[in-house]
Amino acid sequence: MKQSSLHVAIIMDGNGRWATDLGLPRALGHRAGAEALRRVVEAAPDLGVSTLTAYAFSADNWQRPQEEVDALMHLLAWYLEDETPRMLADGVRLSVIGRRDRLPPRLLEAIRAGEAMTRACTKIHLRLAIDYSAREAILRASQSFGGGTITREAFEQLLGQENPVDLLIRTGGEQRLSDFLLWECAYAELFFTRVMWPEYGAMDLRLALDQFRKRERRFGTVPDAKARPASQERWLH
Ligand code: IPE
Ligand code: IPE
Ligand code: MG
Repeated sequence: MKQSSLHVAIIMDGNGRWATDLGLPRALGHRAGAEALRRVVEAAPDLGVSTLTAYAFSADNWQRPQEEVDALMHLLAWYLEDETPRMLADGVRLSVIGRRDRLPPRLLEAIRAGEAMTRACTKIHLRLAIDYSAREAILRASQSFGGGTITREAFEQLLGQENPVDLLIRTGGEQRLSDFLLWECAYAELFFTRVMWPEYGAMDLRLALDQFRKRERRFGTVPDAKARPASQERWLH
């Protein structure tokens, strides 16, 4: 059965290497990466994705050269200003997760306007992670709890989570989480691809989702007895 309300998370990695390999400045890689995000958001609803959480800027990315950080902040503001009318027309609800207190005013305003204007959209929920750290998010959620025994559900509310991540995709060839959605990915299927993010598109997302749908998610249980091959039965008695 095709599950049509998937939460897909994407670590959009490889912009810099893509640009460098072409002899271009890294900032142009980020610019091309913004176009890739636009393509993927457009394609995602028809592929059964109802929530897309995309890692745009990590809390550790502040350690990059100032020039690159400035280019990224500028690009994110431009992207949100430019995309908000289209998101509204296409039914994309925007949320931004991560810290807000270190972002420049123009970006903050673009986030505020984008979130406010698209609040009622229901086709897909785009959650953009900016100045995000999963460890910080978990710490903050723990600190905001008043005391006593906390349930998993209450903690997840504090984390601001909708659904757990079903599929985590990382482009760019690295196979690590880089402090992204550590709690939310507890049972996520992981999919790593060497495709650099600026080259990623609808076909790549379709491929990842096709693979995802072939996997058996067990959540710690045993496979369905009806689906188990007879050759395995004798080991069970
Ligand atoms: C991902 O691409 C975008 C951000 C982290 C902001 P990178 O900039 O990390 O690109 P590579 O990994 O250096 O190629
Ligand atoms: C993770 O990528 C952050 C984003 C994609 C926004 P990085 O390129 O910063 O991660 P590392 O340094 O390779 O782990
Ligand atoms: Mg990288």
